[in-house]
Amino acid sequence: MNTSADLADQRFEFPFQNEHFEKLKGLVFEHTGITLGDEKKQLTYSRYSKRLRALGITDFNDYIDIISSGDESELPFFISAITTNFTSFFRENHHFEFLVNEVSRLIKIKKSVRIWSAGCSSGEEPYSMAMSLLHGVQGIETADVKILATDLDTAILATASRGIYSDERFDNANDSIVNPWIKRGKGENSGFVMIHPKVREMITYRQLNLLGQWPIKTSFDIIFCRNVVIYFSKDVQRTLFDRFSKNQSKGGKLMIGHSENLAGVCESYRLIGRTIYEKI
Ligand SMILES: C[S@@+](CC[C@H](N)C(=O)[O-])C[C@H]1O[C@@H](n2cnc3c(N)ncnc32)[C@H](O)[C@@H]1O
Repeated sequence: MNTSADLADQRFEFPFQNEHFEKLKGLVFEHTGITLGDEKKQLTYSRYSKRLRALGITDFNDYIDIISSGDESELPFFISAITTNFTSFFRENHHFEFLVNEVSRLIKIKKSVRIWSAGCSSGEEPYSMAMSLLHGVQGIETADVKILATDLDTAILATASRGIYSDERFDNANDSIVNPWIKRGKGENSGFVMIHPKVREMITYRQLNLLGQWPIKTSFDIIFCRNVVIYFSKDVQRTLFDRFSKNQSKGGKLMIGHSENLAGVCESYRLIGRTIYEKI
């Protein structure tokens, strides 16, 4: 007998039952730490049905088998399909203003400053950091300031390291900060902008799963991990922030997203500003 959930499933182009959703949920959690709520069933179907079409298969069981077998060629697409990459230049701008003040202070007392954009998506966050620093920090050109930018999603990282964006992405940006560091395209490139090599030189892009191994020995002065952990369970968040704290010295700063909170998650930091924390 059909259940109401199965009847609803008949609207799908490819048969998609709760059991498919449950298995995909498990695989998504295993590979990304993202917990998909039941309300994400339609979204899960729509993201992965595109992969079925791309691979020329019609059965979700076959797709689940491909991922369960650890197929390395599909795994990046599997991850990329579900991770939400929304970002923008100078998003939550108060963090970039804080960054400028903090780096201005640090370069007077330290030889090098290390910054990590963890979950950098398509690059808007690390480029906003670098442009803010080049604009606002006196002596930045000779200081040893580097940004590590990492993400799980290799496709999005390729966009980030290319450093080319449509010009409307800068519509709400402060021209005096941005204009010296972007080149506006002409002719067939009009409508696009390219990020200046000086900005790009400050950033190293690397693929890194925050829930996997970190081949990182650096102690970071500042970490941005914004709008990344929203889908992670509290336990996964606890482990992650604990690991961040081990990669920072006392006084290190951590920025999180506007809807995120460390209360009850990590006691190694104290709140010092709007979604700005300091390692105790
Ligand atoms: C919504 S974007 C946030 C981008 C940027 N930090 C911002 O606030 O604008 C979240 C990013 O986190 C990445 N992400 C999700 N799970 C991850 C994981 N387990 N390891 C590393 N990055 C992850 C996604 O690929 C995505 O690019």
